[in-house]
Amino acid sequence: MKFKPFPEIKTERLFLRKIETSDCDVILFLRSDETVTKFIERPENRKTKNISDDIKFIKELNEYLETNKSITWGITLKNDAKIIGTICLWNFSQNNKTAEVGYDLDPKFQRKGIMNETLKMIIDFGFKELKLDKIEAFTHNENENSKKLLEKNGFQFIENRKDLDNKSNIIFELKNASS
Ligand SMILES: CC(C)(COP(=O)(O)OP(=O)(O)OC[C@H]1O[C@@H](n2cnc3c(N)ncnc32)[C@H](O)[C@@H]1OP(=O)(O)O)[C@@H](O)C(=O)NCCC(=O)NCCS
Repeated sequence: MKFKPFPEIKTERLFLRKIETSDCDVILFLRSDETVTKFIERPENRKTKNISDDIKFIKELNEYLETNKSITWGITLKNDAKIIGTICLWNFSQNNKTAEVGYDLDPKFQRKGIMNETLKMIIDFGFKELKLDKIEAFTHNENENSKKLLEKNGFQFIENRKDLDNKSNIIFELKNASS
């Protein structure tokens, strides 16, 4: 599993690229805005409250990339370099066969099919390039937008799996049909 060179991805409308410290304003917004984070519960020490937390977080993302621990793409429109959301594959299992997907999008760009277009590419990357057997998603049980997005992309709600760290979360899984 290698994330070097960074696997940039193009879709019909979007360009997915590496996140740099120069993107700090948008990343701080995405990690602190009340609408975006409504259903995302982060432990106190993982909250991004100010620009210094934010820069530290972006540097961590780049360290994780170097060590193959996780990969996060910044989502941009093709004609504008400004990030409007992010998507990541993280929490890889020890054998690197399972990973978790996480995503967020600026509310101005929601309900336009942008995350649907993005998620499809990341599923493809996870299964074809990383040869994952399974992608998981943990989402708040009231996060209807996220639940619909996952179901639309073939993820199955696993009723008997519980998130021991967060009772409000439910768990979805997507299996690689060709493995
Ligand atoms: C979840 C989120 C990423 C969805 O992104 P999005 O780009 O708005 O989603 P899309 O427009 O691609 O929608 C995909 C499908 O999800 C469903 N959906 C999305 N938003 C919806 C809404 N507000 N109401 C009902 N269905 C919705 C629809 O089925 C849609 O397909 P359709 O447009 O063909 O009907 C976005 O709402 C978000 O960033 N939320 C805040 C962060 C978050 O909660 N992240 C998840 C953490 S687990």
